Amino acid sequence: MRLYRFLVIIALLMGIAQCFFFDIVNSVPTDTVLDQPEPAVEESVAEVEGQIEIIQSREFTQNADYKCGAKWGRCPMGTCCSASGYCGTSQLHCRSPDCLIDWGQCDADRTPEGPPTKDILRPSIGKVPYGPQEIRSCTVPGTVALTFDDGPTRYTGELLDLLDKYEAPATFFVTGVNNGKGQIDDPSLPWAPLIERMLLSGHQIASHTWSHEDLSKITPTQRRDQMEKNEAALRNIMGSFPTYMRPPFSKCHAGSGCREAMGDMGYHIILYDIDTDDWKNDSPDHIQLSKDLFDNALAKGNPATKSWLVIGHDAHEQTVHNLTEHMLKTIIRLGYRPVTVGDCLQDPRDNWYRIDNRWPGHKNKKKPPRKGPQKGIPQQVSVDGSCGSNYTCLGSHFGLCCSSVYLCGNTTLHCGVGCRKDSGYCTVETPSNGDPWDPKFPGKSGKSEGESDFRAVGTAALTSLLLALIAAMFM
Ligand SMILES: *[C@@H]1O[C@H](CO)[C@@H](O)[C@H](O)[C@H]1NC(C)=O
Ligand SMILES: *[C@@H]1O[C@H](CO)[C@@H](O)[C@H](O)[C@H]1NC(C)=O
Ligand SMILES: *[C@@H]1O[C@H](CO)[C@@H](O)[C@H](O)[C@H]1NC(C)=O
Ligand SMILES: [Zn+2]
Repeated sequence: MRLYRFLVIIALLMGIAQCFFFDIVNSVPTDTVLDQPEPAVEESVAEVEGQIEIIQSREFTQNADYKCGAKWGRCPMGTCCSASGYCGTSQLHCRSPDCLIDWGQCDADRTPEGPPTKDILRPSIGKVPYGPQEIRSCTVPGTVALTFDDGPTRYTGELLDLLDKYEAPATFFVTGVNNGKGQIDDPSLPWAPLIERMLLSGHQIASHTWSHEDLSKITPTQRRDQMEKNEAALRNIMGSFPTYMRPPFSKCHAGSGCREAMGDMGYHIILYDIDTDDWKNDSPDHIQLSKDLFDNALAKGNPATKSWLVIGHDAHEQTVHNLTEHMLKTIIRLGYRPVTVGDCLQDPRDNWYRIDNRWPGHKNKKKPPRKGPQKGIPQQVSVDGSCGSNYTCLGSHFGLCCSSVYLCGNTTLHCGVGCRKDSGYCTVETPSNGDPWDPKFPGKSGKSEGESDFRAVGTAALTSLLLALIAAMFM
């Protein structure tokens, strides 16, 4: 009984200590702000070298008290180091980009199937400049290139519906594994079909790295890994990988070697000249600020001479449910035309991707055997918009997906829940991954994707405190 009481007191003290710690980390301003415009002052070479030195001196003994980071060293084997420096195995510890790659394991420590892409030749095709040059604007007058970073996410299907409705091509800067969504090329997850749908609808796919690390702060090897893993994953989905990329946090600082590395790997570095700040304004009360930013910028130019390159994120509810339609309406109202980044730079479509023809099997491997139509009777393309065992929506002009009520169409109603895989194309229902951008957590503007971890630690601390108090009541 004595021992029990002693343990409870210890738990109580730990809870208090954790709460305290949580307050401290929470008040530290974080610099990992999502895709913020790059600050005018660039990091000096010395600073960057200092960072590399820290990374290289990480050969610490494995720590036993489950804290991690520069001061404590690596987490024990098989555990992850959270953004706030605790070892653990929960999704909150392990999910990228919050998870600290230098101090433990992370969910991004996986390599997509198939041959690595490092041996694919990367000639500088076309007239659009490659790294180290950065591209911040479009060149074709009258065009607006809407771009969406960090997806695909559970909102992406609806965004594709909307873009279809306006027949508006856009560009998706896709991240391979972030915010606990799993690998984009995992056949059990909905992401690959969404990426296929982007291609079918005429959108452009570009790279936003494998796990959204700051490319200016990692080693050259880690940087290569970030690009090549995403290449392999995209190759597994579409048979090719992009020549266009946007660095996470829009950071690819001069002096870090990042810009040169992107050039060497055959990438155009794409930034933007309109920042919608959508990640800061992701609530019905604030999204008007993003709308105003966009409208005011567009109003300054004349579509006869001007073009725009816009950054947004399909990871945000308001971006998909509110801001994008507003932007499309403004684009049309002012006489502009929505296009992909490649088109706004007048780069022929063939130059947007590098084909990997060593990996022919993925398409066939993934397609489940057709169950619907009877053997030997090929399905015909739907003639009246209806579909079912004998008629497929693939190739029909009513839309590609066969709905639960046997009608072809392109909307989430057709392609989502109940969609008939044997008679057309389907996107799998997108699960909520409980990411920190959920609009249910408003007012977190200015915080990074990493904030969820701080919150998690705070919650864990409060929980243990509460548990200890409850236990104490029974003493
Ligand atoms: C459906 O989507 C496909 C691919 O994006 C497109 O070619 C077709 O025109 C769309 N059909 C309708 C009816 O929207
Ligand atoms: C869309 O944004 C406006 C402000 O621009 C806001 O009043 C409205 O509630 C938002 N709609 C939704 C569905 O969130
Ligand atoms: C499909 O076609 C086969 C052979 O033409 C026919 O026997 C069958 O009734 C058709 N099924 C439907 C649902 O129309
Ligand atoms: Zn991003």
